[in-house]
Amino acid sequence: MNKNVEDILNRQVEREAYSSSLYLAMASWSEVNGFPGVADWLYVQSDEERLHMLKFVKYINERGGHAIIPALKKPETEYKTVKSMFQEVLKHERFITASINEIVALCVKEKDFTTQNWVQWFVNEQIEEEANATKILDKLKLAGEGNLYLFDRDIMALRAAGAGGAKA
Ligand code: FEO
Repeated sequence: MNKNVEDILNRQVEREAYSSSLYLAMASWSEVNGFPGVADWLYVQSDEERLHMLKFVKYINERGGHAIIPALKKPETEYKTVKSMFQEVLKHERFITASINEIVALCVKEKDFTTQNWVQWFVNEQIEEEANATKILDKLKLAGEGNLYLFDRDIMALRAAGAGGAKA
């Protein structure tokens, strides 16, 4: 496959792997700080990010490239509040959306229309990922920082209702 396309897909392997690691760190913080529902949501999200990473790994190799499994930087271990943590989730998802858009742009430049077509799944996925984080922040605004018990109890139901979880 085109070397520039292979390189940017490998960059995305690293970014999806880091997303998985970041959400795992957030899940762990939530679990030890009394938010078991939030932790469950983030554990599931972390698994989904690993599946995103695997999609890139398998696609690169299928197309005759070589997927490189990267070292990852260590995510933050402490978060101030649940709200600020989800603000970070949204910021990170926006970063990932920009990153996916750069892949699309490079595919067009390199005339790799097969990969451009393949990566469209992620373009759509990012609409959902940003919407999910936004919906959670809206709910948190309603709940207020002092009353997170019900939010924590109900966050997984949000996912089940399709408002809190992306399909892998
Ligand atoms: Fe893999 Fe949350 O984007």
